[in-house]
Amino acid sequence: MEGVLTLFSDFYSALSQVNGFVTPKLAKRFPENFLFGVSSSAYQIEGSWNIDGKGQSTWDYYLHKQPDIVEDGTNADVTTDSYRLFKQDIQMLKHLGVKSYRFSLSWTRILPDGTTNHINPLGIAHYRKCIDLLLENDIMPLVTLYHWDLPIAFGKNGGWLNENTADRFGDYARVAFLAFGDKVKHWITINEPFIHCSFSYGIGLHPPLIKSPGKGFYECGRNLLLGHARAYHIYDEEFRFQGGKVGLVVDAQWPIAATGSEEDTRAVKDYLALYVGQYLDPVLKGGYPQRLLDLVAAASSRQGTESRLHPLSEDQKEYIRGTYDFVGINHYSSLMVYRNESVIGMYDEPSFYDDVGIGTYMDDSWPASSFDNMRDYAPGFYSLLLYLKDTYDNPVVYITENGLPLSSAEGLDDWKKANYIRHYLDALADAKADGSNCQGYFIWSLMDSFEWASGYEYKFGLYQVDFEDPDKKRTARKSALVYKEIIRTGTIDVSYDPNPYQHNGTVY
Ligand code: BGC
Repeated sequence: MEGVLTLFSDFYSALSQVNGFVTPKLAKRFPENFLFGVSSSAYQIEGSWNIDGKGQSTWDYYLHKQPDIVEDGTNADVTTDSYRLFKQDIQMLKHLGVKSYRFSLSWTRILPDGTTNHINPLGIAHYRKCIDLLLENDIMPLVTLYHWDLPIAFGKNGGWLNENTADRFGDYARVAFLAFGDKVKHWITINEPFIHCSFSYGIGLHPPLIKSPGKGFYECGRNLLLGHARAYHIYDEEFRFQGGKVGLVVDAQWPIAATGSEEDTRAVKDYLALYVGQYLDPVLKGGYPQRLLDLVAAASSRQGTESRLHPLSEDQKEYIRGTYDFVGINHYSSLMVYRNESVIGMYDEPSFYDDVGIGTYMDDSWPASSFDNMRDYAPGFYSLLLYLKDTYDNPVVYITENGLPLSSAEGLDDWKKANYIRHYLDALADAKADGSNCQGYFIWSLMDSFEWASGYEYKFGLYQVDFEDPDKKRTARKSALVYKEIIRTGTIDVSYDPNPYQHNGTVY
């Protein structure tokens, strides 16, 4: 088949030399072993927050105490009820035909007080059942150890501002490798250091609600990197015989200079240093990006203090460097980026905004989702994949999250999301053809779930969930059917538009 495709493309590329001939796009094929998957996380889907010996996480504790943290006052005590309904979830995965499912373990379901003083056998038994059932259905588990639900005892003690949390995270990782490593061969240590540190320890939007945008934000990043590295070394030294792989997940949107000016070009580089390089450079290269160190040092000196970002010590650099077998990237959108010094001083204390002085917006020409802050611009995704290839020596990359939210009003006919997925997979296929080592793609999310401080308004699911229904009925949306066909055929074809609302032709 590939031979035929090449033949056609040679033929078309010859024709395209002829004046006025428009080359049709050809369907693009993914390799047989490309990992198509979907993602979720424990707090967002499990419910059963106090069942079978589970201890409390920061989210359980703070949302009970202070419900107004969440826009609609909700929490995830029940959410999609996946702790009870996991068999249904696995049937949905089977129906989609995914090759892999990314989900996270709840730290306090396994270690109720966060430490190894007490290991909860019911927590371990639950996840073993899930993993076994996935494997019986030929679905590879991609397991995240930490997707933001920190044991409350650590949350009350500075959370990730406290280096002790990194050590305790290592202990927890060891228990997980011991309990599940015979079956789980793909591990993610932590999810999204930038979002986690800025929301939980920077602007104080997520538990444990710490506001320290100029210092805590960076300390959290450093401790997450140390925790990640600790888990990696434990795996490397004690569990390599299990034959698995370990990586971390970084959120990375794609910045585009708003104008050709020198300042906007620099703003793009500053953006990448702060949002992406801060976490990827220490792991893939060694140490923080010099640009970031310089930016924070300059802003701190203007503010009359020593740099709020301390370089990693030589020992820390060594400890963190090279701790990856693959890199997970969560990508949702591109952003127009420009120099904007008016963000400097936007908090009544120093902040990371002061360090970079950039503004961002979304281009109006990019198709919007129901929400203005998420738009469909796949060329940026292509650029990001090539940037990762060129900047970091072409690591193995899995796109561990990509997706578009809908509002409740949009129901099951989510063509915008279906098309977004098609565009992003098309861009991914192009990036692979141009050398990116991206080996997997996971949609956020399998089903609608609790969206942190936004509650239940954003609907990211391939499956709709009826949260009013005691059985939390799940129904496939159009996007699920479109994704299923992409997986089944292993090809992406954007030469036609299947959206009946934008186009009167073919209906998918
Ligand atoms: C997080 C998910 C979240 C998603 C959509 C990511 O930042 O990892 O937990 O639900 O974005 O908001």
